[in-house]
Amino acid sequence: MRSYLFLLCALGAASQPICNHPPSAWCSSWEIAKECQVEKQCLEFYSNRDLVKSSAPSVQIDLYYESLCGGCRGFLIQQLFPTWLMLSEIINVTLVPYGNALETNVSGEWVFNCQHGPEECQGNMMETCLIHIIGDIYQYFPILFCMESSYNVTKSLESCLAVYAPDVALKTVLECVNGDLGNKLMHQNAQRTEGLNPPHEYVPWIVVDGMHTDELQSQAQSSLFHLVCSRYKGPKPDPCLTSEITPLKRDVLCIN
Ligand SMILES: *[C@@H]1O[C@H](CO)[C@@H](O)[C@H](O)[C@H]1NC(C)=O
Ligand SMILES: *[C@@H]1O[C@H](CO)[C@@H](O)[C@H](O)[C@H]1NC(C)=O
Ligand SMILES: *[C@@H]1O[C@H](CO)[C@@H](O)[C@H](O)[C@H]1NC(C)=O
Repeated sequence: MRSYLFLLCALGAASQPICNHPPSAWCSSWEIAKECQVEKQCLEFYSNRDLVKSSAPSVQIDLYYESLCGGCRGFLIQQLFPTWLMLSEIINVTLVPYGNALETNVSGEWVFNCQHGPEECQGNMMETCLIHIIGDIYQYFPILFCMESSYNVTKSLESCLAVYAPDVALKTVLECVNGDLGNKLMHQNAQRTEGLNPPHEYVPWIVVDGMHTDELQSQAQSSLFHLVCSRYKGPKPDPCLTSEITPLKRDVLCIN
Protein backbone atom coordinates (compact mmCIF):
# COMPACT_ATOMS: atom_id res chain seq x y z
CA MET A 1 0.00 0.00 0.00
CA ARG A 2 2.84 2.34 0.87
CA SER A 3 4.10 2.03 -2.67
CA TYR A 4 0.75 3.09 -4.10
CA LEU A 5 0.79 6.17 -1.88
CA PHE A 6 4.19 6.96 -3.29
CA LEU A 7 2.78 6.63 -6.76
CA LEU A 8 -0.13 8.94 -6.02
CA CYS A 9 2.27 11.57 -4.71
CA ALA A 10 4.47 11.12 -7.74
CA LEU A 11 1.49 11.66 -10.04
CA GLY A 12 0.45 14.79 -8.16
CA ALA A 13 -1.86 16.97 -10.22
CA ALA A 14 -2.64 14.26 -12.74
CA SER A 15 -5.54 13.07 -10.59
CA GLN A 16 -8.38 14.08 -12.92
CA PRO A 17 -10.24 11.02 -14.18
CA ILE A 18 -8.65 10.08 -17.48
CA CYS A 19 -9.54 6.40 -17.52
CA ASN A 20 -11.91 3.94 -15.93
CA HIS A 21 -9.50 2.52 -13.37
CA PRO A 22 -8.85 3.59 -9.79
CA PRO A 23 -5.37 5.09 -9.24
CA SER A 24 -4.34 2.05 -7.21
CA ALA A 25 -4.65 -0.03 -10.39
CA TRP A 26 -2.86 2.32 -12.77
CA CYS A 27 0.43 0.51 -12.72
CA SER A 28 -1.00 -2.96 -12.37
CA SER A 29 -0.58 -3.67 -16.07
CA TRP A 30 0.98 -1.97 -19.05
CA GLU A 31 -2.38 -1.80 -20.87
CA ILE A 32 -3.98 0.07 -17.97
CA ALA A 33 -0.96 2.36 -17.65
CA LYS A 34 -1.33 3.21 -21.34
CA GLU A 35 -5.05 3.75 -21.10
CA CYS A 36 -4.56 6.04 -18.11
CA GLN A 37 -1.61 7.76 -19.83
CA VAL A 38 0.76 7.14 -16.94
CA GLU A 39 3.31 4.86 -18.64
CA LYS A 40 6.24 7.10 -17.74
CA GLN A 41 5.15 7.54 -14.15
CA CYS A 42 4.69 3.79 -13.80
CA LEU A 43 8.19 3.14 -15.10
CA GLU A 44 9.62 5.61 -12.59
CA PHE A 45 7.47 4.04 -9.92
CA TYR A 46 8.84 0.60 -10.69
CA SER A 47 12.44 1.71 -10.96
CA ASN A 48 12.32 3.71 -7.70
CA ARG A 49 10.62 1.06 -5.64
CA ASP A 50 12.57 0.05 -2.57
CA LEU A 51 14.48 -3.03 -3.50
CA VAL A 52 13.67 -6.08 -1.49
CA LYS A 53 16.45 -6.24 1.07
CA SER A 54 17.47 -9.76 0.41
CA SER A 55 20.68 -11.50 -0.45
CA ALA A 56 18.87 -13.80 -2.86
CA PRO A 57 20.18 -13.31 -6.40
CA SER A 58 17.83 -12.05 -9.11
CA VAL A 59 16.42 -14.58 -11.52
CA GLN A 60 18.48 -14.15 -14.68
CA ILE A 61 16.54 -14.30 -17.96
CA ASP A 62 18.55 -14.02 -21.18
CA LEU A 63 16.62 -13.74 -24.40
CA TYR A 64 18.29 -14.64 -27.69
CA TYR A 65 15.98 -13.41 -30.42
CA GLU A 66 15.66 -11.66 -33.74
CA SER A 67 13.67 -8.51 -34.37
CA LEU A 68 11.15 -9.77 -36.94
CA CYS A 69 10.45 -13.30 -35.76
CA GLY A 70 6.80 -13.65 -34.78
CA GLY A 71 7.44 -16.01 -31.88
CA CYS A 72 10.14 -13.70 -30.51
CA ARG A 73 7.87 -10.70 -30.71
CA GLY A 74 5.06 -12.62 -29.04
CA PHE A 75 7.28 -13.72 -26.16
CA LEU A 76 8.80 -10.28 -25.67
CA ILE A 77 5.45 -8.46 -25.78
CA GLN A 78 3.22 -10.89 -23.92
CA GLN A 79 5.59 -12.48 -21.43
CA LEU A 80 8.95 -10.83 -20.95
CA PHE A 81 8.02 -7.16 -20.82
CA PRO A 82 4.96 -7.50 -18.54
CA THR A 83 6.84 -9.90 -16.24
CA TRP A 84 9.84 -7.59 -16.05
CA LEU A 85 7.54 -4.66 -15.30
CA MET A 86 5.90 -6.43 -12.40
CA LEU A 87 8.91 -8.28 -11.05
CA SER A 88 11.70 -5.81 -11.84
CA GLU A 89 13.06 -6.12 -8.31
CA ILE A 90 13.78 -9.84 -8.64
CA ILE A 91 14.50 -10.30 -12.33
CA ASN A 92 17.57 -9.42 -14.40
CA VAL A 93 16.87 -9.40 -18.13
CA THR A 94 19.51 -9.52 -20.86
CA LEU A 95 18.44 -9.05 -24.48
CA VAL A 96 20.61 -10.35 -27.30
CA PRO A 97 19.25 -9.48 -30.77
CA TYR A 98 20.87 -11.79 -33.34
CA GLY A 99 19.16 -15.19 -33.23
CA ASN A 100 19.53 -17.29 -36.35
CA ALA A 101 21.55 -14.66 -38.21
CA LEU A 102 24.89 -15.53 -39.79
CA GLU A 103 28.05 -13.46 -40.07
CA THR A 104 30.90 -13.50 -42.55
CA ASN A 105 34.20 -11.69 -42.50
CA VAL A 106 34.35 -9.77 -45.76
CA SER A 107 37.82 -8.17 -45.92
CA GLY A 108 37.91 -7.39 -42.24
CA GLU A 109 34.31 -6.12 -41.98
CA TRP A 110 31.51 -8.27 -40.54
CA VAL A 111 28.59 -8.79 -42.89
CA PHE A 112 25.34 -10.13 -41.42
CA ASN A 113 22.62 -12.21 -43.00
CA CYS A 114 19.34 -12.42 -41.16
CA GLN A 115 16.62 -15.06 -41.27
CA HIS A 116 13.93 -12.54 -42.20
CA GLY A 117 16.10 -10.48 -44.54
CA PRO A 118 17.93 -7.14 -44.43
CA GLU A 119 15.09 -5.39 -42.61
CA GLU A 120 15.52 -7.79 -39.69
CA CYS A 121 19.28 -7.09 -39.61
CA GLN A 122 18.38 -3.40 -39.47
CA GLY A 123 15.96 -4.00 -36.57
CA ASN A 124 18.51 -6.13 -34.69
CA MET A 125 21.11 -3.41 -35.16
CA MET A 126 18.78 -0.63 -33.99
CA GLU A 127 17.92 -2.54 -30.82
CA THR A 128 21.56 -3.45 -30.16
CA CYS A 129 22.58 0.20 -30.52
CA LEU A 130 19.75 1.38 -28.25
CA ILE A 131 20.82 -1.08 -25.56
CA HIS A 132 24.44 0.08 -25.82
CA ILE A 133 23.83 3.83 -26.07
CA ILE A 134 21.14 4.06 -23.39
CA GLY A 135 22.57 1.47 -21.02
CA ASP A 136 19.72 1.66 -18.51
CA ILE A 137 17.17 -1.09 -19.02
CA TYR A 138 14.41 1.07 -17.51
CA GLN A 139 14.90 3.39 -20.47
CA TYR A 140 15.68 1.05 -23.33
CA PHE A 141 13.32 -1.87 -22.66
CA PRO A 142 10.17 0.26 -23.17
CA ILE A 143 11.58 1.46 -26.51
CA LEU A 144 12.28 -2.10 -27.64
CA PHE A 145 8.82 -3.13 -26.46
CA CYS A 146 7.29 -0.21 -28.36
CA MET A 147 9.16 -1.18 -31.54
CA GLU A 148 8.45 -4.90 -31.30
CA SER A 149 4.74 -4.26 -30.74
CA SER A 150 4.50 -1.84 -33.67
CA TYR A 151 3.35 -3.01 -37.08
CA ASN A 152 6.63 -1.88 -38.65
CA VAL A 153 9.50 -2.53 -36.23
CA THR A 154 12.22 -0.51 -37.97
CA LYS A 155 9.97 2.36 -39.00
CA SER A 156 8.76 2.82 -35.42
CA LEU A 157 12.25 3.60 -34.06
CA GLU A 158 11.80 7.35 -34.37
CA SER A 159 8.37 7.57 -32.74
CA CYS A 160 9.22 5.08 -29.98
CA LEU A 161 12.41 6.97 -29.20
CA ALA A 162 10.53 10.28 -29.10
CA VAL A 163 8.07 8.89 -26.55
CA TYR A 164 10.38 6.92 -24.24
CA ALA A 165 13.78 8.60 -24.56
CA PRO A 166 13.26 12.09 -26.01
CA ASP A 167 16.75 13.07 -24.82
CA VAL A 168 18.44 10.52 -27.07
CA ALA A 169 18.97 11.88 -30.58
CA LEU A 170 17.83 9.70 -33.48
CA LYS A 171 21.05 10.74 -35.23
CA THR A 172 23.20 9.18 -32.48
CA VAL A 173 21.34 5.90 -32.82
CA LEU A 174 21.57 5.90 -36.62
CA GLU A 175 25.29 6.67 -36.54
CA CYS A 176 25.76 3.56 -34.44
CA VAL A 177 23.45 1.50 -36.67
CA ASN A 178 25.30 2.48 -39.84
CA GLY A 179 28.82 2.66 -38.45
CA ASP A 180 31.67 0.63 -37.00
CA LEU A 181 30.21 0.68 -33.50
CA GLY A 182 27.06 -1.18 -34.57
CA ASN A 183 29.15 -3.62 -36.59
CA LYS A 184 31.35 -4.36 -33.58
CA LEU A 185 28.38 -4.71 -31.20
CA MET A 186 26.57 -7.08 -33.56
CA HIS A 187 29.71 -9.20 -33.82
CA GLN A 188 29.68 -9.46 -30.01
CA ASN A 189 26.04 -10.60 -30.16
CA ALA A 190 27.02 -13.18 -32.77
CA GLN A 191 29.82 -14.54 -30.59
CA ARG A 192 27.59 -14.62 -27.57
CA THR A 193 24.88 -16.48 -29.48
CA GLU A 194 27.35 -18.89 -31.08
CA GLY A 195 28.92 -19.54 -27.68
CA LEU A 196 25.67 -20.82 -26.17
CA ASN A 197 25.85 -24.20 -24.46
CA PRO A 198 23.77 -26.11 -25.45
CA PRO A 199 23.83 -24.37 -28.86
CA HIS A 200 20.58 -22.64 -29.79
CA GLU A 201 18.30 -24.53 -32.15
CA TYR A 202 15.54 -21.96 -32.62
CA VAL A 203 14.41 -18.54 -31.48
CA PRO A 204 13.24 -17.20 -29.11
CA TRP A 205 15.93 -19.07 -27.14
CA ILE A 206 15.48 -18.51 -23.45
CA VAL A 207 18.23 -19.03 -20.88
CA VAL A 208 17.13 -19.13 -17.26
CA ASP A 209 19.81 -18.59 -14.61
CA GLY A 210 22.43 -19.61 -17.16
CA MET A 211 20.60 -22.80 -18.16
CA HIS A 212 18.58 -23.87 -21.15
CA THR A 213 16.42 -26.99 -21.06
CA ASP A 214 13.27 -27.89 -22.99
CA GLU A 215 11.37 -27.73 -19.73
CA LEU A 216 12.59 -24.26 -18.73
CA GLN A 217 11.89 -23.00 -22.25
CA SER A 218 8.40 -24.40 -22.17
CA GLN A 219 7.68 -23.00 -18.69
CA ALA A 220 9.02 -19.58 -19.69
CA GLN A 221 6.85 -19.53 -22.80
CA SER A 222 3.69 -20.62 -21.05
CA SER A 223 4.09 -18.36 -18.01
CA LEU A 224 7.36 -16.57 -17.40
CA PHE A 225 5.76 -14.73 -14.51
CA HIS A 226 5.11 -17.94 -12.57
CA LEU A 227 8.51 -19.34 -13.45
CA VAL A 228 10.31 -16.26 -12.09
CA CYS A 229 8.21 -16.15 -8.93
CA SER A 230 8.80 -19.83 -8.27
CA ARG A 231 12.56 -19.69 -8.90
CA TYR A 232 13.23 -16.66 -6.73
CA LYS A 233 14.73 -17.84 -3.44
CA GLY A 234 14.20 -14.66 -1.40
CA PRO A 235 10.95 -13.32 0.13
CA LYS A 236 8.38 -13.20 -2.68
CA PRO A 237 7.50 -9.68 -3.82
CA ASP A 238 3.82 -8.62 -3.70
CA PRO A 239 2.89 -9.43 -7.31
CA CYS A 240 3.99 -13.05 -6.78
CA LEU A 241 1.60 -13.33 -3.86
CA THR A 242 -1.39 -11.55 -5.34
CA SER A 243 -1.35 -11.60 -9.12
CA GLU A 244 -2.95 -14.09 -11.38
CA ILE A 245 -1.53 -13.88 -14.85
CA THR A 246 -3.33 -16.16 -17.24
CA PRO A 247 -0.88 -18.37 -19.06
CA LEU A 248 -0.76 -17.57 -22.73
CA LYS A 249 -0.68 -20.19 -25.39
CA ARG A 250 2.71 -21.33 -26.60
CA ASP A 251 4.08 -19.11 -29.33
CA VAL A 252 5.44 -20.36 -32.61
CA LEU A 253 9.18 -20.83 -32.79
CA CYS A 254 11.34 -19.72 -35.70
CA ILE A 255 13.45 -22.73 -36.50
CA ASN A 256 16.85 -22.02 -37.99
C1 LIG B 1 22.44 -8.86 -14.49
O1 LIG B 1 23.03 -9.55 -15.58
C2 LIG B 1 24.21 -8.94 -16.07
C3 LIG B 1 24.62 -9.69 -17.32
O2 LIG B 1 24.60 -11.06 -17.16
C4 LIG B 1 25.25 -8.93 -14.98
O3 LIG B 1 26.41 -8.31 -15.45
C5 LIG B 1 24.71 -8.19 -13.77
O4 LIG B 1 25.62 -8.25 -12.71
C6 LIG B 1 23.40 -8.78 -13.32
N1 LIG B 1 22.82 -7.92 -12.28
C7 LIG B 1 22.25 -8.41 -11.17
C8 LIG B 1 21.69 -7.39 -10.24
O5 LIG B 1 22.17 -9.60 -10.94
C1 LIG C 1 38.93 -10.99 -41.38
O1 LIG C 1 39.51 -10.96 -42.66
C2 LIG C 1 40.71 -10.18 -42.76
C3 LIG C 1 41.20 -10.19 -44.17
O2 LIG C 1 40.19 -10.28 -45.10
C4 LIG C 1 41.76 -10.73 -41.82
O3 LIG C 1 42.90 -9.89 -41.85
C5 LIG C 1 41.20 -10.79 -40.41
O4 LIG C 1 42.15 -11.43 -39.56
C6 LIG C 1 39.91 -11.56 -40.37
N1 LIG C 1 39.37 -11.48 -39.01
C7 LIG C 1 38.91 -12.54 -38.34
C8 LIG C 1 38.46 -12.28 -36.95
O5 LIG C 1 38.83 -13.64 -38.84
C1 LIG D 1 8.73 -0.79 -42.86
O1 LIG D 1 9.00 0.52 -43.30
C2 LIG D 1 10.09 0.63 -44.20
C3 LIG D 1 10.28 2.11 -44.52
O2 LIG D 1 10.69 2.80 -43.39
C4 LIG D 1 9.82 -0.17 -45.45
O3 LIG D 1 10.94 -0.14 -46.29
C5 LIG D 1 9.51 -1.60 -45.06
O4 LIG D 1 9.15 -2.34 -46.20
C6 LIG D 1 8.39 -1.66 -44.03
N1 LIG D 1 8.22 -3.02 -43.57
C7 LIG D 1 7.05 -3.62 -43.44
C8 LIG D 1 7.07 -5.00 -42.86
O5 LIG D 1 6.01 -3.08 -43.76
